Amino acid sequence: MTNTEIAAQDHAEGLKQDARKAGARVGLTSDEIIINGGRPLTGRIEVRGAKNLATKAMVAALLGQTPSVLRNVPNISDVRVVAGLLALHGVLITRGEDPGEWRLDPSNVERAHHADIDAHAGSSRIPILFCGPLLHRLGEAFIPDLGGCRIGDRPIDFHLDALRKFGAIVEKLPSGISLSAPNGLTGANIELPYPSVGATEQVLLTSVLAEGQTELRNAAIEPEIIDLICILQKMGAIITVEPNRVIFIEGVKELRGYDHAAIFDRNEAASWAAAALATKGDVFVGGAQQEEMMTFLNVFRKVGGDFDVHDDGIRFWHPGGALKPVTIETDVHPGFMTDWQQPLVVALTQAEGVSTIHETVYENRFGFTDALNEMGANIVVYKDGLADEARRVKRREFEQAAVITGPTPLTGSDIEVPDLRGGFSHLIAALTASGQTKVTNLGIISRGYENFIEKLRLLGADFVFEG
Ligand code: EPU
Repeated sequence: MTNTEIAAQDHAEGLKQDARKAGARVGLTSDEIIINGGRPLTGRIEVRGAKNLATKAMVAALLGQTPSVLRNVPNISDVRVVAGLLALHGVLITRGEDPGEWRLDPSNVERAHHADIDAHAGSSRIPILFCGPLLHRLGEAFIPDLGGCRIGDRPIDFHLDALRKFGAIVEKLPSGISLSAPNGLTGANIELPYPSVGATEQVLLTSVLAEGQTELRNAAIEPEIIDLICILQKMGAIITVEPNRVIFIEGVKELRGYDHAAIFDRNEAASWAAAALATKGDVFVGGAQQEEMMTFLNVFRKVGGDFDVHDDGIRFWHPGGALKPVTIETDVHPGFMTDWQQPLVVALTQAEGVSTIHETVYENRFGFTDALNEMGANIVVYKDGLADEARRVKRREFEQAAVITGPTPLTGSDIEVPDLRGGFSHLIAALTASGQTKVTNLGIISRGYENFIEKLRLLGADFVFEG
């Protein structure tokens, strides 16, 4: 075996171990499921707080002088990773009577050993958001090598550049990155090269206690970011969201704890909606709301799905007849989210004609299509992006496009989950396919989908799970 092959094997083994740990953390006892597909999903499930808000809100609690209470927290492994990291830094975490209620007391924030941080961070990318709060609280911070989904390179240059502008000293070590702020942090003028979600959160979490004003241009304005701003405002921060992706932050001397219910998980909601469409089913997604999903709802309708918006959720169903192809470009908010494309691709394999999905946010986010092709889909991935002068966000080097020609019947196969969203799309493919599909490496899915096995059961899926 060559060194490259050994490295690839080690990498794959590392991913499996991460997935097993992730599954174990939320009570998954088995790493595989056998699905007998071809049955429509029908019934009602609930989605709770967004993974991409709850984890950040937990970090924000570090900034308060008094305890915070976060409600609607989903039982997913990414939340547990962040809870472990907070506990390592002295935050006392207690759970309320409602399992989704977490009380976070940062009265005794303390330094943690680098090796412990590294061991706890697992495959999460959230540790980078600890930088600003820890620099304020302790004058130093350490970030281990970051994980997250393997969907291409996920650099942290925007984060480090912003932290340097606030006055942090950044030192790269073999084990990670060490930061210090011997002279405190001061407000800065920052323009992001791209409206990055994480870098915008980094600036928010750092600027609120920095001395003076911060102006952030080309900021991300995802609903989860607005919810984080609401949390920071409850804590005493002064933040103004201006038109054209500009955010002003006036630093304050002190913040208090917050009491907040996390915004619903629109990525999970869209995933179940796509599952309803692909399986010709009818699923009521309790907790889903219209405003944050408008762009997805338009596409869902164009493809031929139908939905009804209710006060307590949205019902998604396949009204019969042929599904229609679409052309979509993933984008920052309010565009079509990158996390929505993978589940939708499965439904598009059942549409009559040629659909194109242009991925502009991440590189290598079409790896999951290999397994769909093995199941009978006709998806060709082009390494180059599509040219379009009308784009709001500048075209990036690594963009890819997938062309899906349908309809193609899917048949059962053995699939190994590659990443969070791709993994959920594999579950949908297994539910849509005729025959039996074994899906392994399930733990990755529990990073972001709460109780998904139970939800499959509630929706009448036919499967064997030894858990
Ligand atoms: N980027 C850089 N440098 C940086 C930061 C980002 O080049 O310093 C690039 C990334 O490589 C990527 C693009 O900017 O190509 C967008 O990244 P962004 O920072 O917006 O994403 P993120 O904060 O790392 C969050 C979510 C993702 C979601 C994206 C886009 C969390 C924990 N993750 O990632 O969610 O896809 O925003 O909305 O909030 C998921 O939930 O499965 C997931 C991947």
